[in-house]
Amino acid sequence: MDLHLQAGTGEGLRAGLELALREAVRSGRLAPGTRLPSSRTLANDLGVSRGTVTQALDQLVAEGYLESKPRSGLRVAPQPAPPIESPRPSRATLPAVPGIDLRSGFPDLAAFPRRQWLAATRHVLRTAPNTAFGYRDRTGAVELRQALAEYLGRARGVATTPAHIVVCAGYAQALRLVCQVLSHHAGPGSAIAYEDPTEPDYPALTEQLGHRARHIPVDQDGLLVDRLTDESAAVVTPAHQYPLGVTLSPARRVELVSWARRSGGLIVEDDYDGEFRYDRRPVGALQGMAPDRVIYVGTTSKTIAPGLRLAWLVLPGSLVDPLHEATRWDESYVNVIDQLVLARLIQTGELDRHIRHCRTRYRRRRDLLGQAIAGQLPYARLSGVAAGLHAVLQFPAHTGSEASLLGHLERSGIHVEGLSPFYHRRENTPPAIVIGYATPAEHTYRHALGALVDALRAAPT
Ligand SMILES: Cc1ncc(COP(=O)(O)O)c(C=O)c1O
Repeated sequence: MDLHLQAGTGEGLRAGLELALREAVRSGRLAPGTRLPSSRTLANDLGVSRGTVTQALDQLVAEGYLESKPRSGLRVAPQPAPPIESPRPSRATLPAVPGIDLRSGFPDLAAFPRRQWLAATRHVLRTAPNTAFGYRDRTGAVELRQALAEYLGRARGVATTPAHIVVCAGYAQALRLVCQVLSHHAGPGSAIAYEDPTEPDYPALTEQLGHRARHIPVDQDGLLVDRLTDESAAVVTPAHQYPLGVTLSPARRVELVSWARRSGGLIVEDDYDGEFRYDRRPVGALQGMAPDRVIYVGTTSKTIAPGLRLAWLVLPGSLVDPLHEATRWDESYVNVIDQLVLARLIQTGELDRHIRHCRTRYRRRRDLLGQAIAGQLPYARLSGVAAGLHAVLQFPAHTGSEASLLGHLERSGIHVEGLSPFYHRRENTPPAIVIGYATPAEHTYRHALGALVDALRAAPT
């Protein structure tokens, strides 16, 4: 065992051994569940007496770092989760800000389909049987799972049945449940691959749940699949990479599925904005290529509103029972009325109409953004525009640092995010900003865009 033991004797040696073991457990180097070698083996390996080792191990058991199980020896005990350290405020805590809000991650909240939601709510309250208001079905209301199976097959090419769907309170809850299942499937402390760059909250959540996050670079074809090795899962955004906006190429999709089949790894497909594709025919979900290896996650956060906290998991058959088990102690549950309302909006075609309407608006906004940049900031490069609700605007290195550019925009009352906080390895990223062009209300968009372009033109270089 690799322990950093300070030289010493007697009491000092025992205290040093305790310190080294504590540090190894706290840092996660020794993950919960890890079995320790016998005291005899440890004593031999470390070159100390068996008595010293036994005393140190007893002390760590008393302190709750280790636990002793009959017939299975000593193991690292489950540890309280460390606080999540996020390099930027979590999206969930982002306040509404005065000024011009072009941060990514939001649809136009002013476009919430209030009239349709109200009509569907009336219908649900008039027609739902009393039994609908009883204790929850942990996997979600069957009416919604049926509607989703039909909708996802038609709109996203997802091959599934209602029995494979679990309704969740947002993507992060879905990811939390998946990590729990992976702890049983691949063992605690397994490695999970993330795209680099990515939304940093998700790898942070993964690590909080006892897995290791690996950061795999992305190029213009998406994830560098050939860098994957023995990860238990790879989390990807194939339709529109977050935040770069590239699409996972057909060759990489095939490569990714072959990796999963070869290695036994799973693919977590985060289809957060898959409904919004502008230039080409929609890119179907990866899940359709390998329903037995892909865990698909969809959400209403971009199509309707993040405040609904309404998302869904589509599972391979082998994970249905383990995931149901994971929901057992999980009380994050979407209330049944919202679920039935969404089911009704899908059944009546209102959701499709709403998405078509938003797609037309966002495409126009995207076009205006492209024209403004080409006309007034020709030295900047706009990318990731074929789909989704955001684009990346990159500047030549000599235009100054990303931090000074963002500072200048903030002082001009414009809120956007820099690209670099999304990277795990940040050193060589050129200055760039992520523009959420869906965020402003429709009637304010032209003004917001004009202000952004003016401020960028006036930015000190
Ligand atoms: C990459 C990515 N995945 C998923 C989501 C959706 O998360 P949720 O369903 O928790 O709102 C977002 C939201 O911004 C996102 O950026």
